[in-house]
Amino acid sequence: MSLSGKRVVIIGASSGIGLATALAAAEAVANIASKILGPFYAVKHADPRLSQKGSITFFSGVAAWKLFPNASVVSAANAALAAFARSLAVELAPIRVNAVSPGVVEMPSWNEMPEEERNAFFENLGKQLPARRIGQANDLADAVLFLMQNRFTTGTVLHVDGGHRLI
Ligand SMILES: NC(=O)c1ccc[n+]([C@@H]2O[C@H](COP(=O)([O-])OP(=O)(O)OC[C@H]3O[C@@H](n4cnc5c(N)ncnc54)[C@H](OP(=O)(O)O)[C@@H]3O)[C@@H](O)[C@H]2O)c1
Repeated sequence: MSLSGKRVVIIGASSGIGLATALAAAEAVANIASKILGPFYAVKHADPRLSQKGSITFFSGVAAWKLFPNASVVSAANAALAAFARSLAVELAPIRVNAVSPGVVEMPSWNEMPEEERNAFFENLGKQLPARRIGQANDLADAVLFLMQNRFTTGTVLHVDGGHRLI
């Protein structure tokens, strides 16, 4: 049979290039699931138990607002969290719902990058950021405490990124 002049659709399966496609899709789904479904189920089960004066804070991320190469899935997942917070702020009111959007923050999640490369990346980026440094855990902790304590803030994204989304 000749394929000449015909359209061919390849769907991921168990071998060859199809497997590569399927694995990439599976990884994307796993990334999205851990970022979005975790908060989704946490809210679903916590909501009936939360005080009406309580609040929820999600972690979004700078990739939702600044474009990085090969980060479309991360970008989409982070943007979803911000939208989720906005919607839930109305749906769950008077419980407040907000999101923190970290930029590059020195956390164990960066440890997969070799130490020397990581240190150089942090130093170079720190020089470029408007804040002239990368973030530390305390920067995020301060932001979360603010959102927990400020009773008039809901449905918002607090950008704790040293200005990364602006450059
Ligand atoms: N650090 C950054 O530069 C940066 C930038 C933008 C956005 N963010 C966002 O900020 C948040 C925190 O990031 P991080 O850098 O602090 O990460 P981290 O150091 O890797 O900490 C992530 C935490 O989440 C837990 N965790 C991971 N996957 C989980 C799962 N499937 N189920 C339950 N717990 C899970 C980890 O538990 P274990 O310790 O047990 O593995 C760990 O305690 C994330 O949403 C991340 O996307 C971070």
